[in-house]
Formats: sequence, C-alpha cells, structure tokens
Amino acid sequence: MTRLQLTPDGRLKHLLTLEGLPETLLHRIFELADSFLEVSTRSVKKVPLLRGKSVFNLFFENSTRTRTTFEIAAARLSADVINLNIATSSTAKGESLLDTVDNLAAMMADMFVIRHAAAGAPVRIAQHLAERGQTHISVLNAGDGRHAHPTQGLLDMYTIRHYKREFTHLSVAIVGDVLHSRVARSEISALSALGVPDIRVAGPKTLLPKELSALGVTVTHDLDEALDGVDVIMMLRLQNERMHGSFISSVAEYHECWGLTPERLKRAKPNAIVMHPGPMNRGVEIASSVADGPQSVILPQVTFGIAVRMAVFALLADVAPGAAA
Ligand code: CP
Repeated sequence: MTRLQLTPDGRLKHLLTLEGLPETLLHRIFELADSFLEVSTRSVKKVPLLRGKSVFNLFFENSTRTRTTFEIAAARLSADVINLNIATSSTAKGESLLDTVDNLAAMMADMFVIRHAAAGAPVRIAQHLAERGQTHISVLNAGDGRHAHPTQGLLDMYTIRHYKREFTHLSVAIVGDVLHSRVARSEISALSALGVPDIRVAGPKTLLPKELSALGVTVTHDLDEALDGVDVIMMLRLQNERMHGSFISSVAEYHECWGLTPERLKRAKPNAIVMHPGPMNRGVEIASSVADGPQSVILPQVTFGIAVRMAVFALLADVAPGAAA
C-alpha cells in the first residue's frame, strides 16, 4: 500500500489509508492545516492553489460531514467540484465502478474522492488508474467498508493536537463498536505513528475484532477501566447498518453498559476531551448532556475537517506552500 500512495521520494500520491504513513508526513499535514484554518476563518476564504483542477466526489454511501467538508475544502482551494449523484447515475443501470471511473477520467478528472461500502474499492481504483497510465489522477479514500477513513483519522489527530498540543504523554480511550469501524482502524494507526503511549480500546466482546491486541493497544471489556484518568475519549457509533446478526442484546442495555454518561465521564481527567466522528446515536453510545457538554469537541472536529482536507488536497496536487513533505 505504501508504494501505491507514496512516490519514491516520499510525496503523497493517493490517500488510501493512514497505515504506514510516516510521522513527519502527518505533522506536515497538520502544519498545512494550521495555515488553511486561518484561510477558512477570514472573510475572503478562497486561495487559488487548485485553480483549473477538477475534483470528483463519488459517494456510493451516505455522508453529511465528509462529503460536505471535502466539497468546501476543494472550493476554498478554487477547484472545480463535481458531485456525482450516484442514485441518478448510470451505476443504477449496472455500470461497473471501474467503467464509471474510466468515463470520469475521460472528463479530465484530477482527483477522485471515493466513499464505498466495499473495503478496498479506493485501492482498486488507484491500481486501475495506474494500469491505465492515468498516473496524474489522485484517489482520496473517504471511507471504505470497515477498512479505513484516513481523513477522519487525520482530523481527529488534528483536533487532539489542537487541545492537547503533544501526543507523547497522552492516554486515549477508543470506545464502542470497533468491529464495524473504519474510523477506529485509522485512529489506531495515527495514534501509534504519533507516539501516543497509552491507547486503550474498549467495547463488548462481540464488537471488538480479534486482531486488536496485535496492534499494540490495550484491550478491555470494562468501560470504567478504559476511562480511568484518560486525556481523550473517542466514542464510536453503534453501526447498525453494518451489523448482520445479533451483536448486542438491546440498545437500552448497550447504553447502560457502554454509553458515555456524565457520571462515567468523571473517571477521565477533569480536562479530558470527548470526541465522536458522527453521526451520533444520542442516548445509545453517548448521552446528549455529554455530547453537548463543556468537554465535547465534536463540532470543532467537523470544522477542523475542512482545513485538514484542504491540506491533503494541496499535498496531493503538489501545490502546498513551503517545502515538500
Ligand atoms: N464522520 C463521518 O464520516 O461522517 P459522515 O458519514 O457524515 O461523512
């Protein structure tokens, strides 16, 4: 995968996963995002870095945050943004994913932002474009099955950096439905690369994948133990749409055992931050009073997503201000 998404001299060619990305590149993205955050908040919001480039958003799965913030990020960099409406596209007539990609490439696409229910779809598209000699086109994974959600992982790390400054003294708890979560996988890769010494992953036995302990994290089935003295809590959505079978006995029992309530939050450090990638199931994995409470940084996560996605676009197009990563 590293050979597909990085050029031989270490520049970002595609963003398919955070696995294997060097720490220096992650920090380069954060520093660029710092400069774009400033662009996002001033009255003239556009910079011409992607002028003349075409970004195609291909969302084969629903999205509110990722799709919209990718669109805003591309627009702020002055790209032409094309949102393919999958429901009214020829996908509905049976056109294959790769045929769709070939046709959009023939319309002079420069970047594809892809969300797909099938794990590996963005990787397959990147390989296909390489086989076709379309090496100038970049693929950004906007979430594929249970595999990865790299820009969510990046914006989550950027949020932690904003509130906690350093990574190397932090205790972080990731809680909930890890089994069906592409976000958790990207978060674990990034937290490890950034040197977080204490990564705890907690959830019911039925919702934690077997391979977790091989990732160098502490696995627990006790929520209180997971939250004890942590700096950051990353709650995960109970992903009903990806569950085929019975993983929990009831939503009420799940909330009772695994929901983040004000009482449970007291086990973390007093200045701990609460994160959630969204969309939230209020009253299931998180109580509304916590989601809307003073320790919640859930909406800042969304805002930071624009600057982080601008940074990724700029690196992929090799137009980032300053030295190359
Ligand atoms: N976090 C996230 O991926 O949200 P959306 O599904 O709304 O894009």
